[in-house]
Amino acid sequence: MSLIPGSVSHFSNPKAAAANQYSQAQKDIISVASSDRAVADISLWPGYKATDLNSFSAMASDLNLAKVWYKDEAQRFDLKSFKALGGAYAVARQLQKALVEKGLSEPSISDLLEGKCAQDVKDLVVSCATDGNHGRSVAWGAQMFGCGCVIYIHRDVSQGRQEAMQDFGAQVVRITGNYDESVKTADREAKANNRIIVSDTSYPGYMEIPKDVALGYTVMLAEIIEQLDDDKPTHVFIQGGVGGLASAVCGYFWDHWGEARPRFVIVEPEQANCLQESAKAGEAVAVTGDLETLMAGLACGEVSSLAWEILATGGDDFMTLSEDAVAPLMKMLAQGYKTDAAVEAGESAVPGLAGAIVAAQSDEYRQTLGLTSESKILVIGTEGATDPELYQSLIK
Ligand SMILES: Cc1ncc(COP(=O)(O)O)c(C=O)c1O
Repeated sequence: MSLIPGSVSHFSNPKAAAANQYSQAQKDIISVASSDRAVADISLWPGYKATDLNSFSAMASDLNLAKVWYKDEAQRFDLKSFKALGGAYAVARQLQKALVEKGLSEPSISDLLEGKCAQDVKDLVVSCATDGNHGRSVAWGAQMFGCGCVIYIHRDVSQGRQEAMQDFGAQVVRITGNYDESVKTADREAKANNRIIVSDTSYPGYMEIPKDVALGYTVMLAEIIEQLDDDKPTHVFIQGGVGGLASAVCGYFWDHWGEARPRFVIVEPEQANCLQESAKAGEAVAVTGDLETLMAGLACGEVSSLAWEILATGGDDFMTLSEDAVAPLMKMLAQGYKTDAAVEAGESAVPGLAGAIVAAQSDEYRQTLGLTSESKILVIGTEGATDPELYQSLIK
């Protein structure tokens, strides 16, 4: 029986087989211990609550799997995506560091939230390039903590996503190139105007801030561990853009579970498979072209350097997913599969689950990925209807 259409390609990472240890260099990027501060700080933000971890038992049963867990980030604050955790957390950390550099004592999150440093932070400006969700988080953080914000978007970012950032008081600049070009423009303008770039992607010479972004994401992972209540996934299927999310998930779970960590499967759009190509090349490489995909949050051609430090050995399998799987799965989730809970899942939320379903429906891929009736799959529904108009048109 076929739940959704679509096809996948698969590459098994030859470097993963030898990687049974989470190295100190990798722990320096993401660890359970370093996530503690993010957990403590973010739980103080107004409106914080853990998002649901749904168990889709009807789906698991029809796919001949033991479990399908779906972490529902559509409920993350009012931003409807896990990205709310990363950008805004890095904004707070940058403001804290900037005040220390000014010779003041480091403000706590509560100090920032209560406006105790309003005079000192109001002239600081944060900036980034985004395909939507990261910029929304940075804009929201800037508004929540009281600094200025300029966001750069590429030609394919929808009007709805642009307006959502403007609603948080950000100045939004649209360029004519693709995502990678918007990153370069934001960088250049930040240097010229003394702005702090808060990017979710890292490159040599720019590592600390994306590390804070990824630490923000780990709050979601700490919630998952608690919600699993001593149970454990055998496989994690996670969608990849620049790899920041995938590396946070992989690194946190690897540190937590050690050698008993789940098998880690990364899923990307066919036209924007920089992580899969990097695994094939044995080093971080870029893909070029227009990166066109419905999965807007994943339209990235260049891997984040920090992310690759973890995924080079932590990623077991690198898959691509065809575009035709996306809308049917969004629709199925909106209605709720049989007796399973209905969830709102945006275009970039579903590739991990879609990859798992397409693989579980195929004897060949079940064998390749070691999927059996005992397998427990974890996926993260990373966004809800972050572009409501587009969402409605896709689930019709
Ligand atoms: C909803 C959603 N899911 C997944 C991702 C992928 O995250 P990363 O670029 O860190 O790989 C993004 C990135 O923007 C996103 O917006």
